[in-house]
Amino acid sequence: VQPLRVALLGCGVVGTAVARLLTEHADDMAARVGRPLQVVGIAVRRAGKDRSETGVDPSLFTTDAEDLVTRADVVVEVIGGIEPARSLILRAFEHGASVVTANKALLAEDGPLLYQAAQEHDVDLYYEAAVAGAIPLLRPLRESLAGDDVRRVLGIVNGTTNYVLDKMDTTGAGFAEAVEQAQELGYAEADPTADVEGFDAAAKAAILASLAFHSRVSGKDVYREGITEVTAADVHAAREMDCVVKLLAICEVTDDPAEPGGRGISVRVHPAMIPRTHPLAGVREAFNAVFVEAESAGELMFYGRGAGGDPTASAVLGDVVAVARHKVVGGLGPGESTYADLPILPMGRA
Ligand code: HSE
Repeated sequence: VQPLRVALLGCGVVGTAVARLLTEHADDMAARVGRPLQVVGIAVRRAGKDRSETGVDPSLFTTDAEDLVTRADVVVEVIGGIEPARSLILRAFEHGASVVTANKALLAEDGPLLYQAAQEHDVDLYYEAAVAGAIPLLRPLRESLAGDDVRRVLGIVNGTTNYVLDKMDTTGAGFAEAVEQAQELGYAEADPTADVEGFDAAAKAAILASLAFHSRVSGKDVYREGITEVTAADVHAAREMDCVVKLLAICEVTDDPAEPGGRGISVRVHPAMIPRTHPLAGVREAFNAVFVEAESAGELMFYGRGAGGDPTASAVLGDVVAVARHKVVGGLGPGESTYADLPILPMGRA
């Protein structure tokens, strides 16, 4: 059987986890897809760097990403940022590859262009890992809720800022001190601007609103306010009122009469005081959670890890299986054959 060729763009924390898990789970993935997956190359920026700690076969590394994307059936983009990610994804489509990406900044800026290009070339663009890491959220919004009317999405979609605000709440620390702790634990980057100023959450909010409301919302359409102005006194005052401060992404359909047809979409990211009884108040440390309100489904809550190598790789690999299945059997997957060799254990087994 001809394997499906997988190209990886980027070998940072997420790329390394994806490469490792593709090897470790090769047999399971092959069974689930109906064909083996073969990593044909991993594009990196600099040649010659010691990457032995990644455990990846060194012969796979290449600095020629432009060539690599022409030799793949599935391209996984985990470089991040706008360029060269955008050009490489478009080139992959032109050569008939489906793309899995975790790139929220690119999707928030140029999502419509990319979806259209994928459609024109009859390939897939999947991006479950772009918002809230491991949490299955985008496919439920796009598919499971496609027959419902989503009215509101409230999310804690940035783990770094949730960690900082949680530390301020539980220890009384100030903003700067809490950011330092987040950096020491590897949650916050050395330059934490994208997280603490709300840019990361705003890009994710744009993606969530686009899917939830079947519309085109870009990062620039999102009102954004970060957490840099939140003081220990603010957090303390919220506590006195039985509230907690969270950085929320809020996407809602409003019935503003000023809008044509009386309806409009409001998308914003800002710190908000929420009652401690609200399900989002219990989201601690660097976890993410998203609360969805839909007309028929009612209230739904999605919770889990929004960042980190393995959790993000879980979402990436789920997308790899999905797009690979489309290539093999038109989207159905091998179905019942997958677990045929697993014995059923007797009841009562401790
Ligand atoms: N910096 C992001 C966060 C990583 O803290 O949530 C995941 O997008």
